[in-house]
Amino acid sequence: MRAAVLGGGPGGLNFAITLKLRDPSHDVVVIERNRPNDTFGWGVVLSDETLGNLHTNDPVSSKEIRDSFVYWDDIAVHYRGTVMRSGGHGFSGIGRKRLLNILQDRARSLGVKIEFETEAAPPDSYRDFDIVVGADGVNSRVRASYADAFKPDIDVRACKYIWLGTHQKFDDAFTFIFEQTEHGWIWVHAYQFDADTATFIVECSEQTWRRFGFDRMDIGETIALCERIFARYLGGHKLMSNARHLRGSAWLNFNRVLCERWSHENVVLLGDAAATAHFSVGSGSKLAMESAIALANYLDSEPDITSAFRRYEDERRLEVLRLQNAARNSTEWFEDVERYFVLDPVQFNYSLLTRSQRISHENLRQRDPQWLSGAEKWFEQKATGRSPNAARPPMFVPFRVRGIELANRVCVSPMAQYRAVNGTPNEWHFVHYAERAKGGAGLVFTEMTCVSPEGRISPGCTGLYSPEHETAWKRIVDFVHTETEAKIAIQLGHSGAKGSTQLGWEESDAPLKAGNWPVLAPSAVPWSPRNQMPREMSRADMDRIRDEFVGSAEIAARIGFDWLELHYAHGYLMSSFITPLTNQRKDEYGGSLENRMRFPLEVFRAVRKAWPDEKPISVRISAHDWVGTDGIRPQDAVEIARILTEAGVDLIDVSAGQTSTRARPVYGRMFQTPFSDRIRNEAGVATLAVGNIYEPDHVNSILMAGRADLVCLARPHLSDPYWTLHAAAELRYDGMNWPKPYLAGRDQLYRLRSRSETMTGKV
Ligand SMILES: Cc1cc2nc3c(=O)[nH]c(=O)nc-3n(C[C@H](O)[C@H](O)[C@H](O)COP(=O)(O)OP(=O)(O)OC[C@H]3O[C@@H](n4cnc5c(N)ncnc54)[C@H](O)[C@@H]3O)c2cc1C
Ligand SMILES: Cc1cc2nc3c(=O)[nH]c(=O)nc-3n(C[C@H](O)[C@H](O)[C@H](O)COP(=O)(O)O)c2cc1C
Repeated sequence: MRAAVLGGGPGGLNFAITLKLRDPSHDVVVIERNRPNDTFGWGVVLSDETLGNLHTNDPVSSKEIRDSFVYWDDIAVHYRGTVMRSGGHGFSGIGRKRLLNILQDRARSLGVKIEFETEAAPPDSYRDFDIVVGADGVNSRVRASYADAFKPDIDVRACKYIWLGTHQKFDDAFTFIFEQTEHGWIWVHAYQFDADTATFIVECSEQTWRRFGFDRMDIGETIALCERIFARYLGGHKLMSNARHLRGSAWLNFNRVLCERWSHENVVLLGDAAATAHFSVGSGSKLAMESAIALANYLDSEPDITSAFRRYEDERRLEVLRLQNAARNSTEWFEDVERYFVLDPVQFNYSLLTRSQRISHENLRQRDPQWLSGAEKWFEQKATGRSPNAARPPMFVPFRVRGIELANRVCVSPMAQYRAVNGTPNEWHFVHYAERAKGGAGLVFTEMTCVSPEGRISPGCTGLYSPEHETAWKRIVDFVHTETEAKIAIQLGHSGAKGSTQLGWEESDAPLKAGNWPVLAPSAVPWSPRNQMPREMSRADMDRIRDEFVGSAEIAARIGFDWLELHYAHGYLMSSFITPLTNQRKDEYGGSLENRMRFPLEVFRAVRKAWPDEKPISVRISAHDWVGTDGIRPQDAVEIARILTEAGVDLIDVSAGQTSTRARPVYGRMFQTPFSDRIRNEAGVATLAVGNIYEPDHVNSILMAGRADLVCLARPHLSDPYWTLHAAAELRYDGMNWPKPYLAGRDQLYRLRSRSETMTGKV
């Protein structure tokens, strides 16, 4: 096979080496515009896993690479006059130039021809070759030549950054430096890569960059200013640039590259040309080199080029997407970092370490148990004001708001049961809520309980507007209080245009087959073309519904509920006032956000007056309509949270969606938590996070990183009412009070756990 490799970076060279190793008779030519020693960039970071892959592929070059590596274990974070250091992170760095020289030598020794200082011609000029490999980096011309086939998607990210180097030593830790200046925050990612040189990437927001005047500086002026800004970390050493290939100031915006396809006829993309990963997860070179090995292997093992390209793409695309996902989280963390500057150094450090969501709480425990236990103690001390002797996982740290203390931070999220008749809870509800309260969660929410018969979503919804309702709910609440440590919250709501619909397991949100009742809403906008046209609410309707909320709150107070939540999410009545998708009123209740919030605020204020002072009120909102700029977006949700908090709401329960049939949500693990994080840290309010959170590790990471104050789990509590007790056993935390009749079960569970851990060598 004759292969033309356009671009002699880590991707192109590793491909050439591997193809030759598979079959020396292959004719491989690498075209590279630079000279052999003429490389941009500084150090490259590779993990042990990647080193292992390189070793399996080519022990010769990998030995040389390994011999040239600088290893370090710690991450040090300079922030607000403190240095936080945690260990067990295990990185290795090598100079990019050294890496390329090793690969160049190895390629040549295997018979690869490398044509340096040669500009690659358009891909269709290489007609004599069986394949053309586009390994020409992030600005790939090969990709541009067949843009119609590859369909690239290039996302230019917000921050400005520059690759610099220094002889100052950063050899004891991968170092992050966050520096507050009169122009804003500016930060550094620094790591050693040979005996006397370290990479020193400087990054900041575009706004800060302009305020500094970097946009008007050449590279010399930029370096001089960066040296001044970071003087106290540089120990008198200079900063250096080797970006002679770049015009202008050498500052960059990161380009996230995705391609719909990676091959077209006999042309295939590799490395940065096909997909990039942000430098903050240090994986660009890893992706390029591992993809190169896969491509060469398939060209060797598959019967023809087409199937080799297909297998290469199938295998590598998944890995690339996984990494790009982590890289996106990490990129966004740095873009939003100003939000986290309110955090204490311990929490800031934790947030930074877990930013890509690849490292969880228990990963951190494995890496540096001492640091994590210090962080856990800090968390508890901050929450309770007491210094604990032993650390406990954050989910088991009590939470106090007004006069209510929750024993821990796990909540059973509100979940409609659709089992009531005429709004009255029955034996189903008694058993359901009693079991969840026995299961160890600190707070159990009731399902959305409606303030009037018309305000119900379905005929099976519970209500709180009659003496029967009061009696039935009181029996549940009394049991919870007498027999468990859990607190119980009532969620009050009104269905609005989504009312008079079928039970959850029938056709959800579809009108009843018979016996529909009329529905109302802020505007005459039906939930879907199939649903009833709601009546636009008059001021008299508003008075009535406000009073219904107050009436239900009064009953809830009499019953002794500990907490009240107003359901202002998911497209029900209050939510449909807040989102412009369904509120099209022309009066003072429609239009601006301030107007759209007017009625929901009025209801909150009236309820607050009727609700005991010592008990909290949370409000559940949809922080994202998922319909682009027409609807609520997370930045609007910050404003909504601010308005509610200023009115006296104690916590925001951050859900999302279900406000429009046009919504296109992006699901995933903990997918709504970023909205809680944003609201909590930008609006400075306490939040509950919810949505696809299902492991104890998720809960602890969310709390410890300051992404929420409480965590709600819904579906996990349907499959396991004892989720919290089981989580404690999994984490070997023995501070949970099990119901006394179940103590023998607890003892057996803990015994079995520790036995299986001993057998699997975990302890
Ligand atoms: C300025 C800069 C500095 C970087 N520094 C580092 C660093 O210090 N550490 C790190 O881990 N990662 C660094 N990266 C990221 C890293 O380069 C990539 O993620 C990784 O090298 C991808 O490998 P690749 O082989 O796909 O592409 P590249 O390494 O970009 O290699 C592409 C090669 O193609 C050549 N080329 C491009 N167009 C043509 C053409 N028309 N004709 C001939 N040759 C061509 C280029 O000269 C280059 O050698 C840096 C990126 C940039 C843009
Ligand atoms: C069966 C079921 C019923 C639900 N009913 C309600 C409800 O009454 N009120 C509410 O605010 N959310 C309700 N939700 C949404 C959940 O509270 C939660 O936000 C959502 O399920 C995401 O959390 P999870 O991934 O832990 O399930 C319901 C969810 C389920 C699965």
